[in-house]
Amino acid sequence: MSPHTFPLGPPPYPLGEPLVRREGREKVTGAARYAAEHTPPGCAYGWPVAAGIPRGRVAAVDTAEALALPGVITVLTHENAPRLAAAEDPTLSVLQEDRVPHRGWYVALAVADTLETARAAAEAVRVTYETDDGADVLLRADHPRLYEPEEVNGGYPGTRERGDFEGAFAAAPVTVDATYHVPPLHNHPMEPHASTAHWSEGHLTVYDSNQGATKACEDLAALFKLDKSEITVVSEHVGGGFGSKGTPRPQVVLAVMAARHTGRPVKVSVPRREMPAVVGHRAPTIQRVRLGAGNDGVITALSHESATHTSTVTEFVEQAAVPARVMYASPNSRTVHRVVPLDVPTPSWMRAPGECPGMYALESAMDELAVQLGIDPIELRMRNEPDTEPDSDRAFSSRHLMGCLRDGAERFGWSPRDPRPGVRREGDLLLGTGVAASTYPVLIVGSDAEAHADRDGTFRIRVNATDIGTGARTVLAQIAAGALMAPEDRVRIEIGNSDLPPAMLAGGSAGTGSWGWVVHKACTALRARLRDHVGPLPADGFTVAADTRQENSERSPYARHSFGATFAEVQVDTVTGEIRVRRLTGVFATGRILNPRTARSQFIGGMTMGLGMALTEGSEMDPEFGGFAGCDLAGYHVPACADAPRIEAYWVEEEDPHLNPMGSKGIGEIGIVGTAAAVTNAVWHATGVRLRDIPLTPDKVL
Ligand code: MOS
Repeated sequence: MSPHTFPLGPPPYPLGEPLVRREGREKVTGAARYAAEHTPPGCAYGWPVAAGIPRGRVAAVDTAEALALPGVITVLTHENAPRLAAAEDPTLSVLQEDRVPHRGWYVALAVADTLETARAAAEAVRVTYETDDGADVLLRADHPRLYEPEEVNGGYPGTRERGDFEGAFAAAPVTVDATYHVPPLHNHPMEPHASTAHWSEGHLTVYDSNQGATKACEDLAALFKLDKSEITVVSEHVGGGFGSKGTPRPQVVLAVMAARHTGRPVKVSVPRREMPAVVGHRAPTIQRVRLGAGNDGVITALSHESATHTSTVTEFVEQAAVPARVMYASPNSRTVHRVVPLDVPTPSWMRAPGECPGMYALESAMDELAVQLGIDPIELRMRNEPDTEPDSDRAFSSRHLMGCLRDGAERFGWSPRDPRPGVRREGDLLLGTGVAASTYPVLIVGSDAEAHADRDGTFRIRVNATDIGTGARTVLAQIAAGALMAPEDRVRIEIGNSDLPPAMLAGGSAGTGSWGWVVHKACTALRARLRDHVGPLPADGFTVAADTRQENSERSPYARHSFGATFAEVQVDTVTGEIRVRRLTGVFATGRILNPRTARSQFIGGMTMGLGMALTEGSEMDPEFGGFAGCDLAGYHVPACADAPRIEAYWVEEEDPHLNPMGSKGIGEIGIVGTAAAVTNAVWHATGVRLRDIPLTPDKVL
């Protein structure tokens, strides 16, 4: 049997139960401590100095005034900061040279006894720059330096072609050729990036806000030329990341540098306003989608081309055309990425990188095609369901997109829908409904875990998972209890510490599948051992270690993806141009749902983020001064409670034996994927005007 195939019996209790978060009470009472809330004795505070030019170099740093402030310990610059080994991720190579690749790049760190003094000292540092002329910060579809990269984020090939797109498109009786703009977007997790670094007797302990302490520990070891055993990274509670904490960010390097330089524990938090420049962002995309179809709605030609930016520091290519390789059958297809390095902060992962902006464009174009053909958008998708994954011709391990669309249509009350736009009025308001599909790949990464049985009948599971707010502890306890056939309250879960067995980070919607599989494996082995054992346990109990590297060393023979459908109802104010979403309904096919309470929270959280993407979120590079213009939560509008109406998430039953022992697919990202297009398609239905440049702020509507 393939290592990717599992006989799925009924889920062992308490899998599938809506257990409450284990740390919920700690969190809501303020007892849970986050990275910046650890204050070792003698702790000092670092405040970074961000470059104030669009591009150039640091000519001189005058620290005299800063150092003269009472309580200032040091100011680190590229001249006196500890030297680092060459970084695998060059955004971590801070204070190593005088180059300023973009506005906001860190050029110094003030360290003082208090946070307030550190901040005052940072403001008193006088940096003289040599500014390069002609910083280039704006992405254009015709930018002369755009090139086609070999590979895009996720390791996908940059370009794929099947058949003869141009010929088929030219011959198609019905065509859509539309270009969509997605602006830079910011992750803005509730908890800003923060680190507290502490050297004690040759051992470095770092409290760090990240999505994976294993990776943070490895990267710090490489940068500071230490052995991993000399470092412990603790990430016990993390207030969100959405990809921006997938890898270490500059503040952790600065904190460790400063602690090494001063001999004191040092805490560094990234100020909210500086986050857009140093923790990654979703790169803007300009996406041209061309669809050619017969009068029956069957697509014969599909092209998705995405242009995006990266920084001059490192190449990161948002893989926006990748979902077009998964979604719809078309004998002739081409998907192309182009990228241009600009003088911008380095982009990175943001919730459903690739799928999220890519599906906004593709699902908008599908809606445009449905309108052209006069076919209901759900029916159009049904007519283009592929038998196998179009890109690879592999069989899908499971694909219940149609089930999601049908179920969602019923719950939402899609039919009978008058397809005509701009005909439903309530006073000054125009009303409309829209739908879009979503998809996200199933990713699983081999990990390590230990399961321990104590004499007192309790169990301890050790795995370096991270709970970034998802409920990872709770669902891992459910998986462990199910495999052990033990009561859930007898299972303790230890996560969020790099001393634990190394495991996948909380990213790519891969956490539960990766950690859960190895926890299941360790617990199953432990249970077998206990079953065979006669008499009392030895004093230190039994410990079983497991890893799933072998199982995950080869690619699954199946194309494995989650699917979903999102429905939106909007109202457009014809006087003010304000759009409000009245309700959102999402239905997802993501294998087995292991905890309906925490799963629902992931789905509606993703959908809320998609609502923001459609209507209010967006950032702009300042062409004159460089840097993002709207850096804080006053200038970058994430949805507040009043913006988030009736958001409902459901799922269809999906039994997929080709995933992992739990039969689960990832659920952290798919909620965002179809939401923006569902909302903007509804805006078309309300108004009859196709707006292809999100967010749909009132100025664009009027
Ligand atoms: Mo998610 S953007 O893979 O952390």
